[in-house]
Amino acid sequence: MRRRIAAGNWKMNGVSADLREARAIAQAAQGLAVETLLGLPATLIMAARDMSVTLGGQDCHAEPKGAFTGDLSAPMLADAGAQFVIVGHSERRALHGETDAAVAAKARAAQAAGLTAVICIGETEAQYRGGATLEVLAAQLSGSLPAGATAESTIVAYEPVWAIGTGLTPTPDEIQAVHAFIRDRLPDRDIAVLYGGSVSPANAATIFSLADVDGGLVGGASLKAETFIPIMQALEDAR
Ligand code: PGA
Repeated sequence: MRRRIAAGNWKMNGVSADLREARAIAQAAQGLAVETLLGLPATLIMAARDMSVTLGGQDCHAEPKGAFTGDLSAPMLADAGAQFVIVGHSERRALHGETDAAVAAKARAAQAAGLTAVICIGETEAQYRGGATLEVLAAQLSGSLPAGATAESTIVAYEPVWAIGTGLTPTPDEIQAVHAFIRDRLPDRDIAVLYGGSVSPANAATIFSLADVDGGLVGGASLKAETFIPIMQALEDAR
């Protein structure tokens, strides 16, 4: 049985007052069979650690400690209460120049610290328009996934860069074809493959009905319980 996962990515959003949203999400998660993950800003993880939801960070350094001012390591996130960390999000790749090799190193560091690595891959709009999607994803997968990745240690998130925060998504047929392509290239076919990019209460049921979609990585709509809980529920009701 593959895992089914509704994961939120709060990005650089959220102060302590927003923990009420996390609390409401956690309460709803308790009644569901699907897993609910929340990628909080690191500053909020400790304060949310007693909530009934799986917490995670959004990036980690490849080293466990050292002279890296401003960075956070995977053991630090684990110590704060995280059980997973997102690595290789397209915003990190684009804005912080993270290469596939850097992402793989972060994923290995996460796994060494006992965290599940949520490894993000996705093509840009130009690559999509140029018909290069599958080629790009194959290269990102072989470069960013550590050897020996398992369904327990690893989650893959397919996030077309052009779909993030834009309200645009690929068609259901495109999403299914890409997810099947990704699954064929995984070291363990049971690794969960999440779709991300403008997932909303309106499109979640359609996306989660696809055979090779195991859930979603949700940005904007995960910030509020009002929009994230219907997405969690759509996953619960799917298939
Ligand atoms: P979005 O972001 O749901 O706001 O499009 C998804 C993501 O970047 O993980």
